Amino acid sequence: MMIVCANSKGGVGKSTLATHLAVWLFDHGFQTALLDTDKQRSSSEWIREVEPQITVRVADTPEECLVIAQELSRSHDFLVGDAPGGLEDLSRTLLILADLAIFPTSPSILDVRSVAGATQVLRYAQGINGGKPEGRLVLNRMKTRDTISHELRAGAPKLGLEVAQHVIRDLQAYRDAAQQGTVVARFGRKGAQAAADMDALFSELLGAFMAVKQQ
Ligand SMILES: Nc1ncnc2c1ncn2[C@@H]1O[C@H](COP(=O)(O)OP(=O)(O)OP(=O)(O)O)[C@@H](O)[C@H]1O
Ligand SMILES: [Mg+2]
Repeated sequence: MMIVCANSKGGVGKSTLATHLAVWLFDHGFQTALLDTDKQRSSSEWIREVEPQITVRVADTPEECLVIAQELSRSHDFLVGDAPGGLEDLSRTLLILADLAIFPTSPSILDVRSVAGATQVLRYAQGINGGKPEGRLVLNRMKTRDTISHELRAGAPKLGLEVAQHVIRDLQAYRDAAQQGTVVARFGRKGAQAAADMDALFSELLGAFMAVKQQ
């Protein structure tokens, strides 16, 4: 089962979500791999620091991405793909192979406008891959008192992508955890609020897939 974090915009939280998701799945007892297709190598370097038992591979071309993804899918319960910023070849290849596509977006007007592009590419991948992947918009870096956060939450269902019910708050713990080479779930009390957000979101998104794997 393959899950991909993608979006046309940079800096929306793709690598943060991909890294936390891979560790979360590993901590639930699944054989987990991460495929980093972003030249910045954010998630692959981060995950090597956090959990050496997670298989980490990188791919720089769609051809490499296809071969490595197929190989990792055969040998692992879950494969998490981290896409580069943009919905070009590498992101499209990951999406065509995926069972679930997570599109993080943050509460800025430019990020929200980019969701239309993500929806189009999702439909393209679904057209090729017999209806897969399922797509979810994840509202990241949400602030309680911020008008645009409220507008995004209210307007998200109109953007053409199913919206995850659980949102991720804007919390310093994500940046601090990354800096110390860990994830919020392994960051003690400092990461507790953020870890609760991640746990709720991933349980919502992955619950059904995990049940299938556990059968
Ligand atoms: N919920 C959050 N709260 C606070 N900071 C966050 C949150 N999510 C992400 N960040 C921070 O935002 C920055 C961008 O996140 P990240 O690298 O995950 O985005 P990305 O979409 O992978 O970016 P790129 O397109 O460059 O690969 C990082 O500094 C990260 O720590
Ligand atoms: Mg990234």
